[in-house]
Amino acid sequence: MACSSRRMPSHTAASDVPEAGKLFSWIKSDQQISMKGMSRYLPDDTKMANILILNGAPRKNGATTSLIQAFTKGAVSSGNEIREAYIHGMDVKNCLGCDVCMKTNAGCVQKDEGMAKIYSDLEWCDTIVFASPVYFGTMTAQLKAVIDRMWAWFNLPDHFGAKKRVVLISTARGSDYSMILNQYGIYSKFMGWEDLGHILDAGEEYEAEKLGKSII
Ligand SMILES: Cc1cc2nc3c(=O)[nH]c(=O)nc-3n(C[C@H](O)[C@H](O)[C@H](O)COP(=O)(O)O)c2cc1C
Repeated sequence: MACSSRRMPSHTAASDVPEAGKLFSWIKSDQQISMKGMSRYLPDDTKMANILILNGAPRKNGATTSLIQAFTKGAVSSGNEIREAYIHGMDVKNCLGCDVCMKTNAGCVQKDEGMAKIYSDLEWCDTIVFASPVYFGTMTAQLKAVIDRMWAWFNLPDHFGAKKRVVLISTARGSDYSMILNQYGIYSKFMGWEDLGHILDAGEEYEAEKLGKSII
């Protein structure tokens, strides 16, 4: 692998991504306002983080999973609690695009068990790790399906703009992470979530563990 660590400081992440308001100008303006006003708690001094890892890698023992394990080791050593969703092994359907969640603000019409568990873990966590190998530039279909289904979750009345912190873990055969970074940046920016950093490339276990450890 030609590339070295490309973990970037959060201020460099998604710098080319347009403002959420411009990208999603079709969203009702009251929702855009509530996004700013909404404050969900983040961990305070006495509470460690609840971290949800959304593992989009189909291969259970691949390079992405190895980074996840290193990250988890670090995060657990700091007293954090971890839950991991191995999406490929779960019953998670694709978004239907029916827009019922937008019209009713009552969640998704689909009642698949895997996604129900992820919705519940989204309530629990304050930090989300998006982990995926690069497939044709972007996240895997497994992780993208969860992200699309989160549309219904953040259309719930008090969830739009719910504060979370986010991390990206990814591996690729080559060295181009621009599209997955952009994808992650668009999503995080739209949600108003705080980017804690990126671990990009197989073999970055040391950096992954360090990032996990730094989260409290
Ligand atoms: C369907 C598919 C598409 C891929 N597309 C890319 C790509 O666009 N760029 C790249 O560098 N690697 C690509 N790869 C290689 C994987 O990203 C790389 O091998 C990754 O480390 C696999 O992660 P894993 O070991 O966790 O499964 C692709 C692999 C597959 C199976």
